[in-house]
Amino acid sequence: MAKLTVKDLDLKNKTVLMRADFNVPLDGEFNITDDTRIRETLPTIQYILKNGAKNLVLMSHLGRPDGKRVDKYSLKPVAKKLADLLGEKINFLSDCVGPEVKAAVDSSQDRVILLENLRYHAEEEGNDENFAKQLASLGELFVNDAFGTAHRAHASTAGVDKFLKSAAGFLLEKEIKYLGDAVSNPQKPFMVILGGAKVSDKIGVIENLLPKCETIIIGGGMAYTFLKAQGKSIGNSKLEKDKLDLAKTILDKAAAMKKEILLPIDHVVVETVDPNAKSEIVGEQIPEGKIAVDIGPKTIALFNAKLQSAKTVVWNGPLGIFEMDAFSKGTLEVGKCLAGLKAVTIIGGGDTAAAVAKFKLQDKMTHISTGGGASLEFLEGKTLPGIAALTDR
Ligand code: 3PG
Repeated sequence: MAKLTVKDLDLKNKTVLMRADFNVPLDGEFNITDDTRIRETLPTIQYILKNGAKNLVLMSHLGRPDGKRVDKYSLKPVAKKLADLLGEKINFLSDCVGPEVKAAVDSSQDRVILLENLRYHAEEEGNDENFAKQLASLGELFVNDAFGTAHRAHASTAGVDKFLKSAAGFLLEKEIKYLGDAVSNPQKPFMVILGGAKVSDKIGVIENLLPKCETIIIGGGMAYTFLKAQGKSIGNSKLEKDKLDLAKTILDKAAAMKKEILLPIDHVVVETVDPNAKSEIVGEQIPEGKIAVDIGPKTIALFNAKLQSAKTVVWNGPLGIFEMDAFSKGTLEVGKCLAGLKAVTIIGGGDTAAAVAKFKLQDKMTHISTGGGASLEFLEGKTLPGIAALTDR
């Protein structure tokens, strides 16, 4: 990697400032419902502690409190979870900057310190230089392991690097390796599965990956704008009218490049989107008044037969409303197919990672990204500010 990694740092007796992405989901009682993002940073935390660092100061955001102190976005539950996972006491501080925080870090009896939510200060998202300097004053070296936030140019991701020698943690390095190799050096045939609600969210990925892959498989809400562009009837299914021309252009471009785009050939439809709604399976044409909520059995068979020959698959976006059990079959069956392939299988974060977790297929995939927006921007070929800001080798 062209940037420093944590292994390049001399950690002995140093106070290390580390940015993690502990933006985890919480239930109404502030229990963490998915601790993947915390567990995934443990190798970096443990490495820093094992290699003689004096202190480790961890920082993160949680949710979007918009520059105000909002109790429900406190990182306190994360401190508790981290202490359990690490088997080490965590000194949780009630703020992230200021003289009291600095004094508490300097006199901490516990080696691991967790700062309160960075986004309680508007200066974090504003990438304020003075705020970044205050954060940087809490450590002598900086490690960024927050891949999930690497697409944000915030003070803690792209500001502190100006003041400290800055290196990637193991999670950041792993994400760059898997997503990077998949995109720039894929084993062929390379197939991309795209789903989710909106065409507009995936245009950048299509434009970047179309020249590199052999096949793009499209399902989920976004498929219906493409089907409409092909002249099919889509009933009341999701349509982005202002993206119809774009969908047509993409289909024409793919044809000119001799790239294959596979779209659903049958559908699970309902009259109203409700977990208990009566559903039926229809063929290519969706009748008036019906809304497609999942891909049908013929489409599952078509997609899965195609995927058998893939050597690399990148999957971003569910293929139906998988949160509702009745409409999760398409996403489940394609997920199961991927799990059984002898191929590199890369799962974009966010909803796709949640779907794979729901179906308990995590262990069968090559890599599941911890970044939703970040993995999407990476797949779009964009430079992520959190990576760009790290110290060059
Ligand atoms: C995420 O969950 O995608 C990251 O933590 C970034 O959060 P944000 O979209 O609120 O910046």
